[in-house]
Amino acid sequence: NKPHVIIAMKVSEEVENFIGETCTYQKWTGEGGMPQAELLKLINEADGLLTSGARRIDKELLDQAPRLKVVSNIAVGYNNFNLEEMKAHHVLGTHTPYVLDDTVADLVFGLILASARRIPELDRFVKAGQWKKGMDEVLFGSDVHHKTLGIIGMGRIGKAIGQRAVKGFDMKLLYHNRSRNEEVEENLGAKYCTLDSLLQESDFVVLMTPLTPETRDLMGSREFDLMKPTSFFINASRGETVDEQALIEGLKQGKIRGAGLDVFRKEPVDPENPLLQFPNVITVPHIGSSTGLVRDAMAMRAAHNLVKALKGEEPIDLVI
Ligand code: GLV
Ligand code: GLV
Repeated sequence: NKPHVIIAMKVSEEVENFIGETCTYQKWTGEGGMPQAELLKLINEADGLLTSGARRIDKELLDQAPRLKVVSNIAVGYNNFNLEEMKAHHVLGTHTPYVLDDTVADLVFGLILASARRIPELDRFVKAGQWKKGMDEVLFGSDVHHKTLGIIGMGRIGKAIGQRAVKGFDMKLLYHNRSRNEEVEENLGAKYCTLDSLLQESDFVVLMTPLTPETRDLMGSREFDLMKPTSFFINASRGETVDEQALIEGLKQGKIRGAGLDVFRKEPVDPENPLLQFPNVITVPHIGSSTGLVRDAMAMRAAHNLVKALKGEEPIDLVI
């Protein structure tokens, strides 16, 4: 008897066929993921679940999944997993590191450049016919090269951002992390800092840490107070790492010059969210890893993790 799998989001035919070699499956083909109510109807039959990182794997779901052996995230973040409940239910969890590192780093660099040089704001300005002869200072932005970049959360993606900063833009690199990263210190000249001195010294602060109980609300009003009024804040981790109210207040009071945000407390972001009103805040819809090539690679990696677990072998990207 083949194991049965729920493919709860759209994947390529290649991924589907790979799963089909060893498993029976039901799949969701609509945009977004399979609605939770639909999944709850199917999960009691499932040995494996392939899902985006947007789906909460909680007690309610696990209680209805007596056969479930593995949940495979098509995401590097796995804050959607209730790890204790998964352990208690003997369900493995996997994620998809490595394949997205450079793609996320590219986006972060895009946000750095776009906020420093005000590219989206000035694009709207040109298209609105506001560009007049002799304009000069009103178009000024900030330099990126030779400035100081501070990365909070120096993992694989942080390193890829650091490489771009140091090798491409001659930036000075600071980082804060749970543990020292000797590789980035040696190869990129990165300097380890306390959170406070990183915030005080950086021209660009990039938040790249995973969401954990320790990093929830890591950036609050105290932290924005420490940043330079000329600095920019970039978040490509998870919305919950930032107290959004504190960020809004910080922007209003000119504690920082601008922000670039790929993630929000609530996604999709509420159109009424005051962050969307600031011309100096750049927003993108959680697209860090969004290129066709990389999303396919993530889905294939997730499928391999899933199948390995269902064969009783150890998946390479086991998180629990
Ligand atoms: C898909 O699995 C989703 O949760 O969006
Ligand atoms: C995206 O946010 C991911 O965790 O892969």
